[in-house]
Amino acid sequence: MLAIIGGSGLTKLPGLSITHRQVIRTPYGEPSGALSFGNLDGHPVVFLARHGYGHTIPPHKVNYRANIWALHAQRVTHVVSVATVGGIHPDLGPGKLAVPDQVIDYTHGRETTFDDYTEGPVTHFDFTWPYCDDMRQRCLQALAEAGESCLPHGTYGAVQGPRLETKAEIDRMERDGAHMVGMTGMPEAYLAREIGLCYAAIAASVNWAAGRGDSATGISAQEIEANLENIVGRMRVVLTRLACMDYGK
Ligand code: HPA
Repeated sequence: MLAIIGGSGLTKLPGLSITHRQVIRTPYGEPSGALSFGNLDGHPVVFLARHGYGHTIPPHKVNYRANIWALHAQRVTHVVSVATVGGIHPDLGPGKLAVPDQVIDYTHGRETTFDDYTEGPVTHFDFTWPYCDDMRQRCLQALAEAGESCLPHGTYGAVQGPRLETKAEIDRMERDGAHMVGMTGMPEAYLAREIGLCYAAIAASVNWAAGRGDSATGISAQEIEANLENIVGRMRVVLTRLACMDYGK
């Protein structure tokens, strides 16, 4: 089954008819909220609002382990994250979409593994390609079917937040090879890998990153809001295309 993790602006999934909500207890504490089970255009999906349904949980306080564990416990196999980002690459101005294929993790102090290493040998998971290619291809297909153009690859720079970056930080990230910047991509992508979920992200640019384009002198909160609204409507179509695909049992 497909799970959708909604980021900023996507605390509710338009078009989702909810059949039931379920509060899941996990060994890692509370997920961001109850899981919403329902249908998009008649196709089953599970939805979770990453920042809580009232958008009250900041990126550094999201319980990523509980969220991913809860989805896995409900027999989810595939996860798409809808992630808002600031655009660093010239093709990622506000309103543009990308399906990243790489990550640079600048976060700190987050719980990054399910394994507490109290027993058994230490294991190291391969993370050379941090996103599941099967899910990435599905995202690319769904975007094409929805008539959306996108950057079909790119490096997601995951920052700690909740503050936005300085221009110098974005300059450094650009030199590192980051094409977009967001606050929630890690450790979520890694935890999905560790637990065996096929996970990919659709990144939606809601602003130019600090010091770029019309964010040369600052990032406008109103601009972010306006772009978010536009993107949520478009995402509904894309996510419905994704929901139509076969995810097995
Ligand atoms: N920086 C970090 N995270 C973000 C941004 C940004 O500019 N825009 C949306 N999420």
